[in-house]
Amino acid sequence: NSMLSWQRTAFHFQPEKNWMNDPNGPMYYKGWYHFFYQYNPGAAVWGNIVWGHAVSEDLIHWLHLPLAMVADQWYDINGVWSGSATVLPNGRVVMLYTGSSNESMQLQNLAYPANLSDPFLLDWVKHPGNPVLAPPPCVDKQDFRDPTTAWYTSGGKWRFAIGSKINNTGVSFVYETDDFENYQLLPGLLHAVPGTGMWECVDFFPVSDDGLDTSVNGPGVKHVMKMSLDEDRNDYYAIGTYDEEANTWVPDKPEIDVGIGIRYDYGLFYASKTFYDQNKRRRILWGWITESDSEAADVLKGWASLQGIPRTVVLDTKTGSNLLQWPVEEVESLRLSSKEFDRVVVKPGTVAPLHVGTATQMDIVAEFELDKQAIEATPEADAEYVCSTGGGASRRGALGPFGLLVLADDDLSEQTPVYFYVVKGSNGTLQTSICTDQSRSSVATDVNKQVYGSFIPVLEGEKLSLRILVDHSIVETFAQGGRSCITARVYPTKAIYGAARVFLFNNATEANVKASIKIWQMNSAFIRPYNPQ
Ligand code: FRU
Repeated sequence: NSMLSWQRTAFHFQPEKNWMNDPNGPMYYKGWYHFFYQYNPGAAVWGNIVWGHAVSEDLIHWLHLPLAMVADQWYDINGVWSGSATVLPNGRVVMLYTGSSNESMQLQNLAYPANLSDPFLLDWVKHPGNPVLAPPPCVDKQDFRDPTTAWYTSGGKWRFAIGSKINNTGVSFVYETDDFENYQLLPGLLHAVPGTGMWECVDFFPVSDDGLDTSVNGPGVKHVMKMSLDEDRNDYYAIGTYDEEANTWVPDKPEIDVGIGIRYDYGLFYASKTFYDQNKRRRILWGWITESDSEAADVLKGWASLQGIPRTVVLDTKTGSNLLQWPVEEVESLRLSSKEFDRVVVKPGTVAPLHVGTATQMDIVAEFELDKQAIEATPEADAEYVCSTGGGASRRGALGPFGLLVLADDDLSEQTPVYFYVVKGSNGTLQTSICTDQSRSSVATDVNKQVYGSFIPVLEGEKLSLRILVDHSIVETFAQGGRSCITARVYPTKAIYGAARVFLFNNATEANVKASIKIWQMNSAFIRPYNPQ
């Protein structure tokens, strides 16, 4: 079925077939980026989880390697679940992961490479003393999983965090070790947020305007706490301060504490994890992107899930209260020919095709300016705008929506609008939202049709800016330099192959929009099995 095969991506990481979920153990080792992932080798649905493995020199082109770990011990026979790598200063690599045991108890285990001189780290040894950690008595045996990368303390020991829940309070425990074989649970909790439920895939790392090694700490260093909220399947983070001595992390703004405040992404993005890339001195974020069609369609396709393009993560020093996420620069090596549209004035109610040829693999950079007189003339109003309930790109307001229609066909029977929507509050201040509207992305009925999005801070003097990566069935949007991100999976049936187009639109009723856009065609990446001949 050519409609289904079109959905496979050309430059996003995915296995050749079957089910994938969380990113696991990312690291840079001897010239290679290693990527492991939760994988079902037998079907396109979750189950029988083992660790897939791939390597890359640039985070874009990948070699699939043999499975790194399979379910072959009593302590992981029900699944080799998520975990993280720690590269020790002496060159040792330790992998901590969760095993689901023969009794479905979640146990933490240690694995390490059999041969440290092999840059591909093909063979993995499970520590004979496994499991190294069992759930503490205060939690359910099925609520104790996903160890983080370890960080080194001023006391000369290693620590890492594990998510759990106590009643309905999401919590993170911290363990300390010298040798990764014997561990001590530290008193207290790194953090807890009532009402958030189970914390999966906790991540904990220092940030600044630059990438920082996981062990960096000290005055002026902020720490990010991230958790994956099992209850709503979203990744939340918050910025705060880590007190090593007290074993606590405290959010800067309790009202946007982790789990109730900011998300990495306002579309699909889950079970994510960062690592420090000592090669380019940056912190890189990997996130699992699910399908949003039906399970039956996944079984027909024979595969399910992608990984998002890895993102560099830094602190947004202008706001101080959020991160900036941006596709790794290496993705730009796939850029082919480009077309530029410079300061195009788009009148209210306009939809204009951007003639760029086939539009299924694209990197789009766009800037928008709303007409100042129209902003001034717009009356102040109480009206708030919320993407999910705002009626999508067809509902018109004075100052929005405007943006791009991607994966659209010529007669717009299918289209995925990515747009800004500006409202003027009763005190005259502008409030901006960034949204991705899936309601008309496909004529198929078994796909998600929500409108995704969020409010986004726009500072004095900033233009509205977008970066959009389109790769067949994925649309990744980075607004205001990565202050807010939206990842959508879309399943057009007509706007495919040579019929896929991109349009510029302004559906505001009052304001002209001036747009400058550059669109690159994107090459495909080489993502294929390693063949050692
Ligand atoms: C998150 C998660 C983890 C677990 C793994 C199992 O998606 O549920 O908590 O370790 O997936 O595949």
